[in-house]
Amino acid sequence: PLVNPLRSLILAAAGNDALRRLVATTPVSRDVVRRFVAGETTADAVAVARDLVDSGLTVTLDHLGEDTTDKALAESSVRAYLDVLDRLREEGLASRVEVSVKLSAVGQVLDERLGLDNAARICAAAEQAGTTVTLDMEDHTTTDSTLRVLAELRRTWPSTGGVLQSYLHRTRADAQALAGAGSRVRLCKGAYAEPESVAFPTMHEVDRSYVQCANDLLAGEGYPMFATHDPRLIEIVSEQARLHERAPGSYEFQMLHGVRPDEQLRLSAAGETVRVYLPYGQEWYGYLMRRLAERPANTALFLRALTSR
Ligand code: FDA
Repeated sequence: PLVNPLRSLILAAAGNDALRRLVATTPVSRDVVRRFVAGETTADAVAVARDLVDSGLTVTLDHLGEDTTDKALAESSVRAYLDVLDRLREEGLASRVEVSVKLSAVGQVLDERLGLDNAARICAAAEQAGTTVTLDMEDHTTTDSTLRVLAELRRTWPSTGGVLQSYLHRTRADAQALAGAGSRVRLCKGAYAEPESVAFPTMHEVDRSYVQCANDLLAGEGYPMFATHDPRLIEIVSEQARLHERAPGSYEFQMLHGVRPDEQLRLSAAGETVRVYLPYGQEWYGYLMRRLAERPANTALFLRALTSR
């Protein structure tokens, strides 16, 4: 089943302040954090992005933060994006590096309108820099709101990307609705602990839904972005792309920084466009906990780092 006990435990720990302090103050755990996160500053993010671009990959930068209920924090998150977009333009990286934005980090929790206005500022700055924005998808209580904001942003910035999660029952219909010309859609399995009332309970069903949605997106006229590390899904999607006579570059693969780096380079060397999701910033804790929840091997690595001296 998708919701195994370890995963639930770790996702619960994601909200635990004591654990957050322990992780933040244990020096050796910082190495584990650095495997998945570029660093805390704009300069760190740009430096790691440049290395990835130099190795033939493309990048989407994520300034870490989520569930912001404070207007000033939302504003500082927007400013971080404006700052990094400026730097990408100055450094000539904007054609290979875009940004991913969580609406909950820029005010959606307070008010959808504030989230929209702030996301619009980031889209305007991205356009000026010569790149694009993708809106991450968060838990299912935000899906409708995020898709509404996406539709609104696309009226001015049609290349704004959205994300669909194959674990949700609703996603097949969303994929069909978003498969039109000009759309950019990232398809992932989904990373939040969701109830059975809205999400498929087994990995098998989540994978089957992924394949169906991938097919819908490839059959459409948009630009699908397949975010997965799953070797079976990568193989199936590649085959589907051939069947739909999709040339490499009319879709892309995406993986997280630090996860299957050799596979990222292999696909890229085979002529595929591969984009690495690269988070940075001080709020790395919730992100890290989701990565650990996904994979027991990551958790073992992390616990070893925490307990070894
Ligand atoms: P899954 O975790 O089921 O793993 C399947 C297989 O992949 C494993 O059996 C193994 O073979 C291989 N694998 C996985 N991790 C590995 C590792 N560390 N080393 C070696 N092999 C490994 N979620 C969300 O809810 N909203 C979002 O906006 C996004 N955005 C996003 C962007 C990008 C670029 C990615 C890659 C992912 C997301 N996600 C996300 C997260 C996503 O929903 C999902 O939780 C993770 O990608 C894990 O699912 P996988 O598809 O990788 O397969």
